[in-house]
Amino acid sequence: MSFIVIEGGEGSGKGTLMQALQTRYADERVVFSREPGGTPLAEEIRHCLLQPRDEPVASDTELLLMFASRAQHLAQVIEPALARGDTVICDRFTDSSYAYQGVARGLGAERVEWLEQFVQGERRPDLVVILDLEPALGQARIAGRLEPKDRLDAEDLAFHQAVRNAYLARAQQAPQRYRVIDAEQSPDAVFEQVMSAIQACRS
Ligand code: TMP
Repeated sequence: MSFIVIEGGEGSGKGTLMQALQTRYADERVVFSREPGGTPLAEEIRHCLLQPRDEPVASDTELLLMFASRAQHLAQVIEPALARGDTVICDRFTDSSYAYQGVARGLGAERVEWLEQFVQGERRPDLVVILDLEPALGQARIAGRLEPKDRLDAEDLAFHQAVRNAYLARAQQAPQRYRVIDAEQSPDAVFEQVMSAIQACRS
C-alpha cells in the first residue's frame, strides 16, 4: 500500500508517463487517478476550474475548488483504495496547490497548509515524483497539440517558471519524500527512473 503522486508542468511528459505506468501495472492492485477530478463530482469541479471563461476567477475560489475536488476524491477513491491495501498513483495532488495557487498565484503557503490539514488530516503522499522541465521547452513540446490550453496552462511563461521553482523548493525541503526527474530525457529513460523510485517506495 503506497500513495504515489506524479507532478510536472505542461509538456513535461506526465501524460505519457501515466499511460506507461498504467500498462506496466495493469495486472496489479494499483488505482490510477488524477486531480483535480477522479470522481464524477470532482470531474465536474475540474471542468469548472479549467474551462477558459470571461469572468475573472478569484485565486481563493480557485484554491477552494481544488480542495473541494480533493476532499471528494480522498473520500471516494484514495482513502478506500489505501484501506483495501491497494497502491494509488495519482496525476497531481497537493503539491500542485502549493506550486500553482500558493506560489504562482501568490496566495502563500499558509493558506494551502491550512486547507491541507483540514481536508487531508494526516494523509500525505509516500512519494512525489516531479518531472522537471524548463517551461519554455515544455511549451515548445506541446506547440503542435490540437486541444485548446486549459485556463491555467494558458498563463504566461513567468507563471510556469514560478510553478517550476516552487516544485523544486518543495522537493528540497523534504528530499526523502520527493524524487526530481530530468524530463528532458527520453520517455523510456524517464519511465525507468520513475519505476525504480516507485519500486523502492513500495518495497
Ligand atoms: P492537468 O491535470 O491536465 O495537468 O491539468 C490540471 C491543471 O490544474 C494544471 O494546469 C495544474 C492545475 N492545478 C492547480 O492549479 N492546482 C491543483 O491543486 C491541481 C491538482 C491542479
